[in-house]
Amino acid sequence: MEEPFLNHSSKRASGQFDREDWASAYGNVEAELTNISLKASRGKIPTEMNGFFYKNGPGRLERNGHWVHHPFDGDGMISAVQFSNGEVNLTNRFVRTKAWQEEEVLGKFLYRGVFGTQKEGGIMKNAFDVRLKNIANTNVVKLGNDLLALWEAAEPHALDPITLETKGISNLEGTLKKGEAFSAHPRFDPGHYGQKRMVSFGVKTGPKSTIRLMEFEVDGTNSGKLISDRQDTFNGFAFLHDFAITPNWAIFLQNAIAFNPIPFLLGQKGAGQCLSSQKNGRAKFWLIPRNSGTFAGESPRELDAPDGFVFHHLNAWEEGEEIIIDSIYYRDFPSIEPEENFREINFDSIPEGILKRCQINSKNNKVKTTQLSPQCCEFAMVNPRFVGLKGSYSWMASAAKKCGNGPLQSIKKIDLKSNEELFWSCAPRGFVSEPLMVPKPNSNLEDDGWVLVLVWNGCRRGTDLVILNASNLHEEAVIELPLSIPHGLHGTWVAE
Ligand code: CO
Repeated sequence: MEEPFLNHSSKRASGQFDREDWASAYGNVEAELTNISLKASRGKIPTEMNGFFYKNGPGRLERNGHWVHHPFDGDGMISAVQFSNGEVNLTNRFVRTKAWQEEEVLGKFLYRGVFGTQKEGGIMKNAFDVRLKNIANTNVVKLGNDLLALWEAAEPHALDPITLETKGISNLEGTLKKGEAFSAHPRFDPGHYGQKRMVSFGVKTGPKSTIRLMEFEVDGTNSGKLISDRQDTFNGFAFLHDFAITPNWAIFLQNAIAFNPIPFLLGQKGAGQCLSSQKNGRAKFWLIPRNSGTFAGESPRELDAPDGFVFHHLNAWEEGEEIIIDSIYYRDFPSIEPEENFREINFDSIPEGILKRCQINSKNNKVKTTQLSPQCCEFAMVNPRFVGLKGSYSWMASAAKKCGNGPLQSIKKIDLKSNEELFWSCAPRGFVSEPLMVPKPNSNLEDDGWVLVLVWNGCRRGTDLVILNASNLHEEAVIELPLSIPHGLHGTWVAE
């Protein structure tokens, strides 16, 4: 039997890894599997965990010997793992986007990517081609009868939740106009107003930016119905990937970022490579009142935010006059320049994500920022029942080493009250993706449940699904998937 790579008492020093192991995750997903029954390679699959674990991420990274410039430009591929009384089944499908189908037929990239992928044929072939390729690769959520594959600059694609068959682009029952942006980061309000809701947004950007904030019913016969809709316009170019909610507010952090479209138009760079950070207090918090809250109908508020760049927020909540938001900050916008190869990046040369807390005082408009941990992290979440509320725990992916940048190789649980940290690590040869905390049904304990995480196993060059106990991070089961899935993006748990 192969030696388990998940070796907690590794002989190698923590923080050491082989870049070849990490980079080996980047390749095309070669198979589409249907309802394949899987067994645990180690441990026991919890019988109380029933539902679907869905994950989205780039699955097509190369065509005709031509590589994407950045993995974020890879076509969306959805994996679905169904858990049913200890039985496990796997299905995976590429999202049949228009571009994916056209490129499959001709076997080459026909579109430019936002993060720098160019069509074959050099600058002249790319100049003035400003078509967007909706690659549906960022997140996957369930709304009504559809699974939605999300990509923030355009509409979602609807898929069948069981077969993963692509139904087509969805305008969410007439909510979205053709080509309208719809975020890949909806937040699920666990019931701040009685019923569970999905809160999401779309951004139209330019010299002024307009945020459309939308809330949808999630449960019952009206699931998917739009129940709240407002638009607010702000000064400045906005790059908003994520947001956070509390019962009263939708909170956006407008990164201090400038966009120079010229190299994009000239075919030299992808649109995402034309972004650059600005400093000195130009970042802003935009607080938009939710339509069901105390401040419904009021104008948004604008406050200074800390310098740095934020992709993801952990959570936000209200405490008296304060609104508190935890987010992962980079000191600069991390971009991969045209001459760089993403599989050969030097982790030391790019900024790491650091978890920080901002306490926004709604009376005097002062913002106080503190660092919660000096360790590189990403993809943090709370128990889904605590979204928008004050929780005690968070789970996230972190680097193996305690400071500086490195690949994500461990899962960390932070006690947000005592700052105590617990770890599970798959270093040196394993690499984690976003962990999902799944609460145990019928339990009121906040950290009672499991953490699901896809791990790139550098030993066997394949993907493992690891199930951890959410309370103590002990490993409960490891399922070796018959699939090699590149380092992915976001996913969802849908309980049965
Ligand atoms: Co994201």
